[in-house]
Amino acid sequence: MREARTKILVSFNEQLDITTKTGPNDLVTNIDREVEAFYRDKIKKYYPASGIVGEESVNENTKPAVDGLLWIIDPIDGTMNFVKQRDHFASMIAVYQKDKGLRGYIYDIMQDKLYWGGADIGVYCNNEKMAPPRNKGLEGGLFGVGAPLLIKNYHNLQNVAMRSCGTRIYGCSGLQFIHVLNGQCVAYSSYLRPWDYAAGKVLAETLGLVVKTIDGKPIDMLSSSDVLVATKNAQKDITRIVQSIY
Ligand code: IPD
Ligand code: CA
Ligand code: CA
Ligand code: CA
Repeated sequence: MREARTKILVSFNEQLDITTKTGPNDLVTNIDREVEAFYRDKIKKYYPASGIVGEESVNENTKPAVDGLLWIIDPIDGTMNFVKQRDHFASMIAVYQKDKGLRGYIYDIMQDKLYWGGADIGVYCNNEKMAPPRNKGLEGGLFGVGAPLLIKNYHNLQNVAMRSCGTRIYGCSGLQFIHVLNGQCVAYSSYLRPWDYAAGKVLAETLGLVVKTIDGKPIDMLSSSDVLVATKNAQKDITRIVQSIY
């Protein structure tokens, strides 16, 4: 991932090849594709029996995993920020065995901070072991959210936002997971696809945080849903507000 970071930084001196996917707000660049291909090649070289799912090649045939491992890649998370801001984006990899997350890696490229770990080793920021964040309730901290959920008030999230100390929208699920890992936010909720949350889920659960759907159900890995990562207390507070509309 450090090699990938160098490729990304070098790309700032070059012309990006930017194309749209589903619409003007959904971009992909040559760097997204190149970083994903780079990770794929490395994984195939060192773990040839593994399965691989990546955002930019999700329709390619994934070889059945002989070793039972599934690698989930988001080469650049926050592509819009990467293109428009040259900042506030991440690169993410997760390793799962069936539904069990073994390792998660979220690399905040511009801060040069790699958050990584798993249940058996704990969570590290670069070489420093992280302590679990304090178990604050919703009223004790900031609420991170994806813009569409908040704007459309899905799940009563405007009320959730009003009950928190304030709302934060960064357009990068990896960074928003990091904010909950290190206690800068008490919760984050957004509509996410597997590569948006796979790494964050491993790290968050290792630190004693809750990762569920916004209505409190277990996450069905490899499907997309409105995901909530939160401290235990904030999750209870949010579930109460979300369920009050039903
Ligand atoms: C996006 C970001 C964003 C989230 C979107 C994702 P991408 O990832 O994580 O925060 O709200 O749903 O698609 O496409 O830039 O990797
Ligand atoms: Ca994308
Ligand atoms: Ca993403
Ligand atoms: Ca991406």
